[in-house]
Amino acid sequence: MTIPDYLTELLETYWFAPPVALWRAVELRAAAAEEYEAPVLDLGCGDGLVAQVLFGTEGQVDVGVDPWPAQLRRAARLGAYRHVDLADGHRLPYANLTFATIISNSVLEHIPDVLPVLHEVQRVLMPGGRFIFTVPSDAFRYFLDGYIRRKERGDMQGAEAYAAAVDARLEHYHYYSPSDWRHMLASVGMEMTEARYYVPEEVERLWDRMNNRYGIGRRWSAWGLLVSHRLRSLGYQDSLRRTLVRNLSRRWQPYYEMDVPPGEKGGGLLVVARKKE
Ligand SMILES: C[S@@+](CC[C@H](N)C(=O)[O-])C[C@H]1O[C@@H](n2cnc3c(N)ncnc32)[C@H](O)[C@@H]1O
Repeated sequence: MTIPDYLTELLETYWFAPPVALWRAVELRAAAAEEYEAPVLDLGCGDGLVAQVLFGTEGQVDVGVDPWPAQLRRAARLGAYRHVDLADGHRLPYANLTFATIISNSVLEHIPDVLPVLHEVQRVLMPGGRFIFTVPSDAFRYFLDGYIRRKERGDMQGAEAYAAAVDARLEHYHYYSPSDWRHMLASVGMEMTEARYYVPEEVERLWDRMNNRYGIGRRWSAWGLLVSHRLRSLGYQDSLRRTLVRNLSRRWQPYYEMDVPPGEKGGGLLVVARKKE
């Protein structure tokens, strides 16, 4: 099967933050393997870029919902959604049994208490409807390059501190396992039908190293300055973008195409759950 080249497409979009493109491309590869029956709700749609790459710009996603006004305004402009709503996943402004599919990409890990959100998802899904979501997995912290290197030196305290700093920077509140998700989903009347790891350890280690190299999440970095809007008028950023996209889409392709070996974990987890009939 040919693998769609989300990596190049996302490097074009996120050229100023290349590791973001790498993670999201692998995530989209995982999500693209699923089917999305309409009507579809994108829960925590953000700026809508991921939905745009996955579904195109012809309004194929019925509704995008997010509590962040600036992000939602961008999503509205993209054209991937028929409609967008400013709302929180804890109180979805929809009638019972409205959607056949709810997708949620990299959202639930940012919500400290997910059970009320799962209740809402169950309420607005039709019987037999599916909830498809991606989250960082229970292996995420242990596959960070910075964590592994410290652990190999016997510095467990340093490894924990490193992972805790990443949690804080990314605002991740939890890393549930497939079994945790199964139980939580069952408690709201949903059955987990699939849990698939993506982002092999080697890919997450590269992603973590690249976050450090490009200074992602740091207040100041040389790369951050080079790609900042303030320097746009100097005119070099277009050629920098082209060179970066050309080089990284080639160098990172083998990582992008790498699968999690059977029986092993990955740093990302895709879960599919079905509302009981
Ligand atoms: C990492 S972004 C992902 C955005 C988008 N799904 C994507 O893949 O690009 C996380 C999103 O979750 C949204 N979010 C945070 N808390 C939320 C909540 N309680 N209900 C719904 N969305 C929430 C944020 O506003 C943000 O847009």
